[in-house]
Amino acid sequence: MVEEKNPSRILNMGFGFWPSKVLLTAVKMALFTRLGDRSMTGEALGRELDLHPRGIWDFLDTLVALGFLERSGVGQDALYSNTAETGSFLDENKPGYIGGILEMANDRLYRFWNDLETALKTGQPQNEIRYSQKSMFETLYEDLPRLEQFMGAMRGISLGNFQVFAQKFDFSRYRSLCDVGGATGLLSTLVAKQHPHMRCTSFDLPVVEPIARKYVAEAGLADQINLVSGDFLKDPLPKADIVTMGMILHDWNLEKKKHLIRLAYEALPENGVFVAIENIIDDERRTNAFGLMMSLNMLVEFGDAFDFTGADFWEWCREAGFKRYEIMHLAGPCSAAIAYKS
Ligand SMILES: C[S@@+](CC[C@H](N)C(=O)[O-])C[C@H]1O[C@@H](n2cnc3c(N)ncnc32)[C@H](O)[C@@H]1O
Repeated sequence: MVEEKNPSRILNMGFGFWPSKVLLTAVKMALFTRLGDRSMTGEALGRELDLHPRGIWDFLDTLVALGFLERSGVGQDALYSNTAETGSFLDENKPGYIGGILEMANDRLYRFWNDLETALKTGQPQNEIRYSQKSMFETLYEDLPRLEQFMGAMRGISLGNFQVFAQKFDFSRYRSLCDVGGATGLLSTLVAKQHPHMRCTSFDLPVVEPIARKYVAEAGLADQINLVSGDFLKDPLPKADIVTMGMILHDWNLEKKKHLIRLAYEALPENGVFVAIENIIDDERRTNAFGLMMSLNMLVEFGDAFDFTGADFWEWCREAGFKRYEIMHLAGPCSAAIAYKS
């Protein structure tokens, strides 16, 4: 039988920015948070969100058609409510809120990706540092709301992966962990909560510390989690049995990646283990499209930074002296690349 060609996949993908922008706009307006556990008419919801009547029903019914809202009834009296998914993950008042990464995608990445072609032709970043001589984190963190948004974004993208890592990894043979570039201390918090014998250190830049302190205190884990401020481009890392880096290596070029791996090696004891939690690209570079696009995102954000395969990770770790490695799948496109010192 001759396979019939059909262009709908091409068209769907080409217009992928339509559903993307509808969802991102709804998150930006905190639509799912405003709805919470309520059911509301379009008119009432439109009033709360300050929407012009022209767009209300097209917007809300698009969200219904895309599976991000439930609706009972039709027309003006129809009632809109969250789906089980949006109620858990996109309502800011729920502990599983992951909207931070989507808020950042809306406010920053959406615009920067408009210049993907320029990034591809020049190899230069297309974000805030485009016209600045400063480094990406220096520029990003100059503005407190932007720093806070970035911290929220990291929690959103990492929560599910860190939860799986805290459950799946065998912590019984180790007593201490240092999470490098630990941001709000999320990984340390999840590990400390599930494994009371573990002592955790969250290491990040000094500007991040007050934000991390707040989250760690809220989790009631200040006794088990130590916050250390420093700069991993200049300072050694705090010593620990396990050194973790969640989406750190991909922020840097090859020379700095190797520097960070060496620092981890030096901070570990003889039986220590180094874990990189990233959207590790499959060795054939064929299937993990999200990991590959994350690498394009690193081009747009940093220029020379890039994501990598498990084989790349192992080559750099072996060069640093690690003896063996494995890949542990976490959630969706994300894995833990684990290198053992013995
Ligand atoms: C992409 S975020 C990852 C956050 C978190 N590990 C996660 O996976 O959700 C990178 C982190 O590295 C930190 N960072 C950047 N440059 C640093 C430096 N020179 N020294 C220490 N931390 C740094 C940032 O502040 C940020 O928290």
